[in-house]
This record gives sequence, structure tokens and C-alpha cells, in this order.
Amino acid sequence: MQAIQLHQFGSPDQFYIGEYDTPEPNPQEIQVKVAATALNRADTLQRMGKYPPPKGASAILGLEMSGIVSKIGSKVTKWKVGDEVCALLSGGGYAEYVTIHQNTAASFPSNLTLQQAAAIPEVFLTAFQALDWLAQLNKGESILIHAGASGVGTAAIQIAREKGATVYVTASKGKHEICLQLGASKAIDYRSENFEEVILKETEGRGVDVVLDFLAAPYFQKNLNCLALDGRMVMLALMGGIKAESLNLVPILQKRLKIMGSTLRSRTLEYKTKLTANFWDFAYDRFSEGHMKPVIDSIFDWSDVAEAHRYMEANRNKGKILLKVN
Ligand SMILES: NC(=O)c1ccc[n+]([C@@H]2O[C@H](COP(=O)([O-])OP(=O)(O)OC[C@H]3O[C@@H](n4cnc5c(N)ncnc54)[C@H](OP(=O)(O)O)[C@@H]3O)[C@@H](O)[C@H]2O)c1
Repeated sequence: MQAIQLHQFGSPDQFYIGEYDTPEPNPQEIQVKVAATALNRADTLQRMGKYPPPKGASAILGLEMSGIVSKIGSKVTKWKVGDEVCALLSGGGYAEYVTIHQNTAASFPSNLTLQQAAAIPEVFLTAFQALDWLAQLNKGESILIHAGASGVGTAAIQIAREKGATVYVTASKGKHEICLQLGASKAIDYRSENFEEVILKETEGRGVDVVLDFLAAPYFQKNLNCLALDGRMVMLALMGGIKAESLNLVPILQKRLKIMGSTLRSRTLEYKTKLTANFWDFAYDRFSEGHMKPVIDSIFDWSDVAEAHRYMEANRNKGKILLKVN
């Protein structure tokens, strides 16, 4: 098969499309002919050699895909050749074919195209895991979602809104409109405004019940300060830096806070299977009735993968960047 590969770790110039061994399904797996894959920030780190794939994962980039089942393993009962599926991957999505365990594949509502389906798995499962499983966001609560217009952010806004929460986001100014359209009630321009002050003003000093964070060090203190009593914070990335200094940790005790971190990629097959099933129970009808939607910023042909990576690294996307495979 053809796959996007790297001459060596480094800039997007290192990408090329070339021959690679076609993966064959084991008895519990299906082989999928990939229609589209989508970019994730982690891909840019992996490209630079800063995010090695977990043990056993493909060396090819790509954490999600949609496509058509092309072969099934001898013990596969859930799928047949020709079915349309989408799935989370631990790697390998930037290729013509992938193999996945039959339990991690999902079918999607018929109102969504194959390309739209490729924009769902990684960001929606990540956001669902964070908001539902970890933070246990409830109806009537409030949440601050940082990087609101990111892939994960746009999924999180919709899930939080569907759960009946009040949503605040931070995002750069030009991305506010999409966050508000998706259901945020207030978008904060983190460059010109102090989000802690805005949140405390908006909530009349109470703070928010949940913070979804991707920035880590520079936001840590302000996140603690704007959480409410019994507040929960889920940290999913370290985009702003890993070392926080001069912290005042009193709010953690005083407000009985829960601080959690997670990565989805390294989770077990059992965990991903359960999360996938749980998420689609929540989301299937919401997608089919149009209450939730995959948010697609742009679609690149896979031969333009270098341009797609540059576009993401310039922080230009609002929602997902897709790669059309073939
Ligand atoms: N832990 C997990 O399981 C998990 C799973 C999926 C993704 N993630 C992480 O979640 C984050 C979002 O992923 P994504 O694919 O949704 O990202 P994305 O679509 O590329 O969006 C990232 C956005 O974050 C904002 N941002 C704010 N400060 C930034 C900074 N210092 N550096 C870079 N961007 C900054 C930018 O928007 P503005 O213009 O608004 O600043 C940027 O467009 C990534 O760090 C990713 O690795 C974690």
C-alpha cells in the first residue's frame, strides 16, 4: 500500500508518500480501506520525534480514520466487507489501509459522510472521556474550556452544551464566533483579557465547576483560582509549558478540588472499547438529529500533508483538518 512516511523526524518537508507493508487483520481485527484521516496536535509532535508511538502501535502517523471494511479476521462477527466505519487508532491512519480490533470500530449515522466521520473519533472521544468519565460534568453546572476552537475544544463545547452545562471558552479573537455558534455562552480573548477575572465576574465570584485545560503551567494558578467549591480540572495537554512556579495551592484544599490528567492513546483496548461504546450511545442520535456535528475546518489531499501540518502549527484551524486519502 501507499502511506505517508518521514525521511527523518523534523519539519513537514520530511513527509513523502511511498510503499509500506499492508497490514493484515488478525482473527479479531478488520482491515479498513481508509477514506480520510484527520490531523491531531500529537501528529506534529510525533513528526518531530517528540512523541513516540506506544508499544505495538504503527510507526505511521494518524490517530483516527474513516473508511470501508476491506477484509475481516476469522473471528469477526460485528462487521462485513463493505461496511462504513470510523475509529480511534493508536497510529497508522496516514495510510491506504489500517487494521483495528472489531470492538473499536463504530458505525455512524447515514446523514454523515465518510469524510465527516473521520473528524469525530479522536476529539469527541477525548472530550467525552474528560467531561463525562473524568469530570462528571452535570446538568446545570458550568465549565471553562480552554482552546475552545481546537479540535478537542469544539467537541467539548458541544458535549457540555448537550449535557446542559453553561460553557465559557478561551480562544483567540477570530475564533470566538464558532465557539458561540457551537453553544458557548461567553468567549474570552485570552490575549487581551484575564480569564480568571472574567470567569469570577460572570459567575458572581462562585467560579466554574469544571475546567478543561490544555495549557498547563501558565494557566495552572488561574485555573485553581476560578474553580468553584468541589471543582474538577482535567488536564489533557501541556501546550503552554511543564513547569509551574510560585504556586499558591491553598485553593486545592480550601475548595476541595480534584485535579486530573489523562492521555487517551496509551489506554488499553478494553478501555477504548468501553469508551467508544459509551460515547456512541450518547452521541449517535445527537449526530443523526443534527444536535451535534463534526466541525471541519479544511480538507487537504493527502499529498498536501506538509501544508496541512504547517497550517495546524500556525494555529489557523477552527475545528478539524482532514486528509483525504486517495
Ligand atoms: N490527553 C489526551 O488524551 C489528548 C487527546 C487529544 C488531544 N490532546 C491535546 O489537546 C490539545 C488540542 O488538540 P487539538 O488536536 O484539538 O488541537 P488544535 O486543533 O491544533 O488546536 C490547538 C489550539 O490551541 C490554541 N492554543 C492556545 N495556546 C496555545 C499554545 N501555547 N500552543 C499551541 N496552541 C495553543 C490555538 O488556538 P487559539 O488561536 O485560540 O490560541 C490552537 O489552534 C493538543 O495539545 C493535543 O495534543 C490530548
